[in-house]
Amino acid sequence: MIIAANLKTNFTRKETNAYIAELDNFVKSNSVSQEVLVFPAPSSLDDNATDIVVGTQNAYPTKEGAFTGELGLVHLEEFSIKTILIGHSERRHIFGETQELLVKKFNFYKDLGFKIVYCVGEPLAKREAGKEEMMEYISAQYEGIDTEYENLIIAYEPVWAIGTGLTPTLEDIEDVHTALKEKSKAPLLYGGSVKVTNAKEVLSLNNVDGILVGSAALYAEHFCSMIQFAQEIENN
Ligand code: PGA
Repeated sequence: MIIAANLKTNFTRKETNAYIAELDNFVKSNSVSQEVLVFPAPSSLDDNATDIVVGTQNAYPTKEGAFTGELGLVHLEEFSIKTILIGHSERRHIFGETQELLVKKFNFYKDLGFKIVYCVGEPLAKREAGKEEMMEYISAQYEGIDTEYENLIIAYEPVWAIGTGLTPTLEDIEDVHTALKEKSKAPLLYGGSVKVTNAKEVLSLNNVDGILVGSAALYAEHFCSMIQFAQEIENN
C-alpha cells in the first residue's frame, strides 16, 4: 500500500530532516515493504538518503524562468525529487489553480517520468447535491489527465473532510472509490481527516490502496502507526 504524508506549510528543513530520519528508521527496523511518501514544504526539500520517497507539494511546469515564488525543475533536480503532488484541494481552492493549469503541470511532469499523486474531491455543496452531481464534479477533475499513466497515483480527498475532522462514512468512501476505479486503474488513496484512530478501517476497505494524511501525519509516531497498520493488513 501507499502511505503518504502531506506536511503542508509545517516544519522547517531541520524539523523535516528529523521527521524523515525517524520514519526511515521505523521503516528499516520494521522491515516495512509499504511505499512511504512524504511531501515537505518547498524550502524544506533537501538531500535525504532514505528509503522514504520525498516529493514536492508543488512546482510550476517549467525548468526555470520568471515565475516569482514558484519552484521549477532545476530546484527539484538539485535534490533528485521525482515525485509531485498535483491538484490538491488547497491549490485548487485557496490558490485558484484551474484544471487547465493542472493539466499543464501534469503533462510537463509526466513527460519527465515523475511519479504524480493527483488529487480529486468534491466540496460539501456537491456532496449534498446528490451522487450524480457529485460524480460529475469529480469526473471534471479527470479531464485532460492521462489516467493510464504508469506513474500515476490518484488521491480522493473530499474538500470538506480535509483538516476538519469530518470524514465520509466507510461505506461512502468505498462507494466513491469503487466508482473512481472505473475511471483509472491507478492506485487510489483516500485523504481527508485520516487519523491513527480510523486509518486501519479506511485501509481495509475495498479499492483503497493507501492514504494521504495531513494534520495527523505531523506526529511521526502516529504516522508510523499508520504505516504499521498497512503492513499488518498486507501481511494477513
Ligand atoms: P488532513 O489533510 O489529513 O489534515 O485532513 C489531508 C490532505 O490535505 O491531504
